[in-house]
Amino acid sequence: MREMKIWDLPTRLFHWSLVSLVLVSWLSAEMDRFDLHYWSGYGILTLLLFRLIWGVLGSDTARLSACLNPPKAIIAHIAALRTPKPEPHVGHNPLGGLAVLAMLAALLTQAVLGLFSQDIDFINNGPLADLVSFDAGTRAAELHILLFDGILILIAIHLTAIFFYSIYKGENLIGAMLSGWRRFDQDGPMTPPSLVPNRRAAVVFGLAAAAVWAVVALGPRL
Ligand code: HEM
Repeated sequence: MREMKIWDLPTRLFHWSLVSLVLVSWLSAEMDRFDLHYWSGYGILTLLLFRLIWGVLGSDTARLSACLNPPKAIIAHIAALRTPKPEPHVGHNPLGGLAVLAMLAALLTQAVLGLFSQDIDFINNGPLADLVSFDAGTRAAELHILLFDGILILIAIHLTAIFFYSIYKGENLIGAMLSGWRRFDQDGPMTPPSLVPNRRAAVVFGLAAAAVWAVVALGPRL
C-alpha cells in the first residue's frame, strides 16, 4: 500500500471552480439572472482557457496528451471493468481521459456559443453577437440551449462513472480530486508524476483572464 500525490493544486482548483460556475450558470439562466450568467460564463471561459494551456505546460497528470491512450489500453481497461479490483492509474484512466476531453470540448463550445448568442428580444445578447449576422446569432443561441442538455448528459455519465469506480472498484477518485493524494494497493514499480510549481499556474491563469477580458471588452468594438 502506498500513497502518491497525483493531482496538482491548480487542476483541483480548476475542477471545483468549474463545478461551482457550471451550477451558477445553470441556476442564473433558469432564474433569468443574466447579470450573473454573463460573469459565470466569463469565469468558465477563463478556467477552460487556463486548463487548455495547463494541459500543455502543467503537471504530468494534467497534460491533455495523458488523456489520450492507445486503443489497446482502452480495450484492456474496458475488459478490466468487470473485476471489482482497483486499477493503478496515476492520473485519469483511459476512459476517464476521453470523458475529460469530451467535457472540456463541450464546455468550451458552449462558452463560445454564449459569446455570439443573439436574443430575439435584443435583451440578453452575448458580448460578441453584433460581430455576426442576426441569423447566425440566433442560431448560436439555439445551439447554446441545446448543447446544455448534452453537457448535463456528460455530467451524469461522469458522476455515474465516478460512483461506479468508488463503489464497485473501490477507487477513491473523489478523495484524490479533493486532496491530490491517491492510495494504491498494488505493489510493483509506479513512477510518481512530476508536478509543476503553483506559481506557473498563477501566471497561466493571469494570461487566460487577460485574454478573456480582451475578448469581452475589446471584441464588441471590432
Ligand atoms: C458541473 C459538474 C462537473 C463537471 C463539469 C466536471 C468536470 C470534470 C473535468 C473537466 C474533469 C477533469 C479534470 C482535469 O483533468 O482537469 C473532472 C474530473 C473529475 N471529477 Fe468532475 N465534474 C463535475 C462534477 C463532479 C462532481 C460533483 C464530482 C464528485 C462527486 C466530480 C469528481 C471528479 C473526479 C473524482 C475527477 C477525477 C477523475 C479521474 O480520476 O479521472 N466531478 N471533472
